[in-house]
Amino acid sequence: MKGIADFIKMKLDKEKIVMVTAYDYISAGISKEAGVDIVLVGDSLATTVQGKDNTIGVTLEEMIYHAKIVKGALTDVFVACDMPFMSYQVSPEQALINAGRILKESGANGVKIEGGETAGMTIKKLAENGIPVIAHIGLMPQFINVLGSYKVQGRIESQIERLVNDAVTLEKAGAFMILLEAMPEEVALRIQNNISIPTIGIGAGRFTDGQVLVFYDAVGMLDKKPPKFVKKFADSRTLIVNALKSYKEEVKNGSFPAEENIYK
Ligand code: KIV
Repeated sequence: MKGIADFIKMKLDKEKIVMVTAYDYISAGISKEAGVDIVLVGDSLATTVQGKDNTIGVTLEEMIYHAKIVKGALTDVFVACDMPFMSYQVSPEQALINAGRILKESGANGVKIEGGETAGMTIKKLAENGIPVIAHIGLMPQFINVLGSYKVQGRIESQIERLVNDAVTLEKAGAFMILLEAMPEEVALRIQNNISIPTIGIGAGRFTDGQVLVFYDAVGMLDKKPPKFVKKFADSRTLIVNALKSYKEEVKNGSFPAEENIYK
């Protein structure tokens, strides 16, 4: 299994790190077969699997449940699990208890938390206690009720300076990797140039050390238009709908089950 030292080596060797989200045995198994480097059980679980409008409502228990299934399929792949809204914001102690539960109960290898400079104390507490942490800055979906909508971050100098400062603080606090979401690529590059841990981008351009996409976005299974930064690498939804239409037609016209599907 690749670990923290391998991700740092990949950064130094300029080998891009490929991360994808997974939520269940099937998406985890497919991700493994495709050879991705690291899998994230994202709280996008809420907006994909659960069909919710945002990530606020997903619970710690639900994250642990899905992370356990994903890790079950990925014993030899590093699995990180998102800490859901309000499972870590109250205090570093609350975060430690809940991150500990995620690792113990699901078998995940690390956690990801959203938050700028203020998350530093929390990351320090987790890192000091043997819990690998991915920091997440830029667009932070758990702040949707403050933001109003999912907007690109780092458009003005004061915001850019804050992002760079956040990244530097979170690295110092002990994050082993940092996820940069929805920002101009020059901003991601400026952050990148000020820290030494690997950066993973989503909507952050070409210069990060790696990329992450939501599984269902990448394989084209969702029924809504994805954001600009997503590339649909396949149109799986159409493929599957057509397969089910064929199934329906064959049941209706009596050609399924055929001879080869019948016990004699
Ligand atoms: O929950 C999620 O899927 C994320 C993305 C940014 C990858 O955090």
